[in-house]
Amino acid sequence: MATPHNEAQKGDFAKTVLMPGDPLRAKFVADNFLEDVKCVNTVRNCLGFTGKYKGVPVSVMASGMGMPSIGIYSYELFQFYDVDNIIRIGSAGSYTDKLNVLDVVISESAFSESTFAKFTNGVEEKTLYPSKKINDIAIAKAKELGIDAKLAKVHSSDQFYTAPEMGGWKAVKERCGCDCVEMESFALFNNANMLGKNATCMLTISDSFVTSEEIPAEERQKSFTEMMKLALETAIA
Ligand code: ADE
Repeated sequence: MATPHNEAQKGDFAKTVLMPGDPLRAKFVADNFLEDVKCVNTVRNCLGFTGKYKGVPVSVMASGMGMPSIGIYSYELFQFYDVDNIIRIGSAGSYTDKLNVLDVVISESAFSESTFAKFTNGVEEKTLYPSKKINDIAIAKAKELGIDAKLAKVHSSDQFYTAPEMGGWKAVKERCGCDCVEMESFALFNNANMLGKNATCMLTISDSFVTSEEIPAEERQKSFTEMMKLALETAIA
């Protein structure tokens, strides 16, 4: 069994999948944290791996960027590969001086102007929530590991670039009331809700609209190890 986007066979994925946006970040997790690793997907270079973390099977697969992309991959993992839990591990831009570059965030909600949920399954809500079960585990694990993970309201945006006449990030922040911005969680939470599965999202702040600080792309891949550890410990809890 394969899909147009995934060459893995049924049974190739573990029950819990970590999902970074970037395929090289998926490879980084597999190379540095998993044992007995098998590469299960290379279609479109959206790399997927299954291995063991502390003896427990865990998978990691890239989602690509944006809601249409994570919408496809997460749907297929839940629906066709019997995956029960997806933990997104991504990056975000901060809208507040309370979240600084390299801070780790656990999503408490995802707001979006996107019509993804409306036209996928008729959901009109603009704010969707992660699964309480995994979020509670993640919060407890962060405490246990001494990771200062901050709960945040996440904005899942369809735009990375906007024209100046749109009013800039302050106008967006005002409109959505969120603490940070990424581009995927809303669609992931919708698919999990629709299919009776679990999802959450952890983010590392990669750039700040407040201070204009950012970490370069090459460093992003490696500098997120705290979040990766938190996600893996949550996955096997
Ligand atoms: N992911 C990381 N930084 C981001 C930003 N500034 N906007 C949207 N997604 C992001």
